[in-house]
Amino acid sequence: MLCLQTPTNTAWLDVAAGNIIAVMKDHAHCEKKAAMNALYLLAQYSEHDALVREMITVLEEETAHFKLMVGELAQRGHSLGRDKGNSYAKQLAALIRPNEPKRFLDALLVDALIEARSCERFTLLAGCEAIPADLRGIYHALMTSEEGHYLTFVRLAKEYFPEHEVDMRFHELCGEEASIVRALPNKPAMHG
Ligand SMILES: [Fe+2]
Ligand SMILES: [Fe+2]
Repeated sequence: MLCLQTPTNTAWLDVAAGNIIAVMKDHAHCEKKAAMNALYLLAQYSEHDALVREMITVLEEETAHFKLMVGELAQRGHSLGRDKGNSYAKQLAALIRPNEPKRFLDALLVDALIEARSCERFTLLAGCEAIPADLRGIYHALMTSEEGHYLTFVRLAKEYFPEHEVDMRFHELCGEEASIVRALPNKPAMHG
């Protein structure tokens, strides 16, 4: 993804491929949280028609991804289990400025970044020969879908804020995201 300032450490892919069930469980929870987030944004900013329309679509797609991954886990004899949390997303959420309208802008841009990083990691998983071919096919499809969500969040930011303000803030947040990613411990999780 063009906006990402640092690539994922190659060590993460080795850990992920060697612990694919753990990655699948964490990934399913990520899809659940992406759906919850779309519903949250829709509820919080329901005066914006374009946002409402787009978030209904994102909600449907993330819910479908969640259902797909829970099904894939079940097929392999695994349940969803408890959500172990996502420190990457928490660190990004902490960068959202508290007062409106900056809060709205930052929320859209942080979501765009999470989608972009997810897309990058699905690309790595889809291309990894140590991962079963059927799963790689799923990761390939998800890569395209999450890229679409990334574009949606950036488009919405530019719909409601001046382009130069969006570009400036996004550049700052991309730098912060790169620092967070460089410090990740390479755990078997989507953003580990
Ligand atoms: Fe998704
Ligand atoms: Fe997404």
